[in-house]
Amino acid sequence: MKYLIGIDIGTSATKTVLFDEKCNIVSSASREYPLYQPHNGWAEQKPEDWYFAVIDTLKAVVEKSGVNSADICGIGLSGQMHGLVMLDESNEVIRPSIIWCDQRTAAECEEITELVGAERLMEITANPALTGFTASKILWVRNNEPENYKRCRHILLPKDYIRYKLTGEYATDVSDASGMQLLDIPNRCWSDEVLERLGIDKSYLGKVYESPEITGYITREISELTGLSVNTAVVAGAGDNAAAAIGTGIVKDGKAFTTIGTSGVVYAHTSHLSIDKKGRVHTFCCAVPDCWHIMGVTQAAGLSLKWFKDNFCLDYIEKAEKLNRDVYDIINEDIAKVPLGSNRLIYLPYLMGERTPHLDADCRGVFFGLSGIHTRADVLRAVMEGVSFSLTDCKDILTEMGADIKEMMVCGGGGASPVWRQILADMYNCSVKTIDQKEGPALGAAILAGVGTGVFKSVEAACDSLIHEKDIALPNISNNIKYTELHKLYQQLYTSLKGDFKALSRLDL
Ligand code: XUL
Repeated sequence: MKYLIGIDIGTSATKTVLFDEKCNIVSSASREYPLYQPHNGWAEQKPEDWYFAVIDTLKAVVEKSGVNSADICGIGLSGQMHGLVMLDESNEVIRPSIIWCDQRTAAECEEITELVGAERLMEITANPALTGFTASKILWVRNNEPENYKRCRHILLPKDYIRYKLTGEYATDVSDASGMQLLDIPNRCWSDEVLERLGIDKSYLGKVYESPEITGYITREISELTGLSVNTAVVAGAGDNAAAAIGTGIVKDGKAFTTIGTSGVVYAHTSHLSIDKKGRVHTFCCAVPDCWHIMGVTQAAGLSLKWFKDNFCLDYIEKAEKLNRDVYDIINEDIAKVPLGSNRLIYLPYLMGERTPHLDADCRGVFFGLSGIHTRADVLRAVMEGVSFSLTDCKDILTEMGADIKEMMVCGGGGASPVWRQILADMYNCSVKTIDQKEGPALGAAILAGVGTGVFKSVEAACDSLIHEKDIALPNISNNIKYTELHKLYQQLYTSLKGDFKALSRLDL
């Protein structure tokens, strides 16, 4: 029997899972780490925290599994996209990573658009300049911390920093590199033109691979730290969304999934390049060689619920600990008791600005319609519904672009909630399904490792034989009619508040 490991370096935790060649879970481990928000709209993490979490979890899964490490053929890496890791000439981390949901780079986005030209940027990188993407973060460091920029010799994404630590190689994969805004998306290679116009040295970037390709083998030091063999291959892997697509079987045209992790994503596979001229959703290379995907992003999906839980549900957290239950199960029970529409309460989930459909770094969260009758359960349901309205915005744009979405797979922490799946089915007006495996990105990364090391013939063949559907939530038409009305009001609220968000961000407090 052969074994494969998938590592997902997420925003709240790193999850490492060891699978057998049928993709059954043999052992798994996860470690959490903090998110630092030094200013309103800023978000940073320490790459060293990711590294320690990876080493700890790798060691744990190897030990717990009892598997002979010589039988573990490969590791696939997946992770939060866009985060900027800068290393100096001794390969030391220069500053904390500015991560995907950080919104400080509006001025740098204007700079990028000016330097490359809006149209050319769209033609090459398939996306407008976005605060979430890595290029604007690089320019921010150059503009605001010139001393740090001067020391920079290597620029890596979060999972690629881990690859460097595991193998000593500077490399990335096409799907994650797509989110740097430095990749030529149609041609799947670094864009010399964009790099030259932005004045970024190409030698700082790693080599670009297709997702299943082997990028190196783990070093002796890592072998000693984790118990893995030095013959363990590390494949290129994929950004968390492209990896989750593999892990939920979204590898052919007509297939789509929603993931509700810290961020929320609605993702459709496409074998031809398709770009939203208004830039409301992203077009990236996907982890299936020579294919792409289009996806809309809700910045604060699971983050909204976690924020509310951490700040206003401390008693639930204590209760869950006492009863040895998952706190989200208790929250879900509460939400299920509240009627559709949360007793006329609407939440706009813009805690970290918003990408789809607004591309607005300055908007912020709103509860609209608060009344004396509302309870915490109403507010919790409003949070879940508000995130779902935003995901519906994403789905509607993908549909407008021609994606024929007849059913939606769902994964991520939020996808484990039956009440959330029903809300999505009712809003999307299509069936929402899970698979019998909940490890989305880690499973996708492990499948990529299996393809790269010859355990599987291709990504598509592996998904056909390994991914099986499990639960299904069917849409309720009368709920869909009510949600469609509420969604219109939800959309109108952003339009009404757009100028006020800007005014709030400019207040000199
Ligand atoms: C995608 C995005 C997020 C992160 C974090 O563009 O920013 O989904 O990958 O998970």
